[in-house]
Amino acid sequence: MNEKLQQIRENAVAQIEAADSLEKLNEIRITFLGKKGELTAIMKSMKDIPKEGRPAFGQMVNETRTDIESKMDAMKNTLARKAREAQMAKEVIDVTLPAKKSVLGHRHPNTIALDEVERIFVGMGYEVIEGPEIEKDYYNFEALNIPANHPAKDEQDTFYINKEMLLRTQTSGVQVHTMETHPLPIRMIAPGRVYRSDEVDATHSPCFHQIEGLVIDKNITFADLKGTLAEFARELFGPETKVKFRPHHFPFTEPSAEMDVTCFKCGGKGCRMCKGSGWIEILGCGMVHPKVLEMSNIDPDKYSGFAFGIGLERIALLKYEIDDMRLLYENDVRFLKQF
Ligand code: DAH
Repeated sequence: MNEKLQQIRENAVAQIEAADSLEKLNEIRITFLGKKGELTAIMKSMKDIPKEGRPAFGQMVNETRTDIESKMDAMKNTLARKAREAQMAKEVIDVTLPAKKSVLGHRHPNTIALDEVERIFVGMGYEVIEGPEIEKDYYNFEALNIPANHPAKDEQDTFYINKEMLLRTQTSGVQVHTMETHPLPIRMIAPGRVYRSDEVDATHSPCFHQIEGLVIDKNITFADLKGTLAEFARELFGPETKVKFRPHHFPFTEPSAEMDVTCFKCGGKGCRMCKGSGWIEILGCGMVHPKVLEMSNIDPDKYSGFAFGIGLERIALLKYEIDDMRLLYENDVRFLKQF
């Protein structure tokens, strides 16, 4: 029996020392110490031993068990340490490496300028309205007093979808949609994309943005137009800004004007920004033509109004002193993140 125990111990120790994984070690534990293991089996053979020899034998079995268990624990620690070391070597993290920067997006200069314009007009009680980019010829031209064969139609040469539908050349059509559906009085701005078949250069793009404005109420006069747009210019370009209205022609307003502001760069003395004149043109405007009111079922004897159209890119280019419109559409982050 003694020899048998000795053999089990040696066998177990040899196997433990050869074990190369925790799984393997567990198998060895079951083989020797488990319920059906070799040591348990030998304990069961106790009954074959004479009574007086049993305590000594029991003690020997226990010693063998303790011995195997402690060898096993030591091996378990070694293997666990090795496994951890191997994993650490595999998943090494170099904490000195620079962290990956997450690049946050940035508002486009057009968006910044539009937010500013919207803030000013909303502050004066205007609603912000959206209109369709794919538009009926009627809304883009006809209802704005630009009949077929009118030269203004050529100037705004555009992308036709069919005889009736086109990509809008101006946001002015939103005036008509609003007059047709909105209860009076009206005080709105309508920003959005417009399209013209223009070649790309420093001041032209086939797709750009306008902000339309429309006010319709009783007793609206040219003084309201001037006061509103002068206040807008002062808010946008600074309190010292002066405005100048030059007579102009638009088919849908009468009288019509273009509004210039004193150059915010030189204060009106003349510089590169304003090409030496001291003034910069920023929008077209006028009193809504009675014919336009009539076509949208508003009685021109009871109501009057004014309208204006601002080029959004023009505002963004001026405000941020960008000298080429193409930069606005290239999506170069190095350019965009400057604003
Ligand atoms: N729609 C005009 C254009 O694209 C701009 C404009 C001028 C709009 C005068 C207006 C206005 O509402 O009153 O050139």
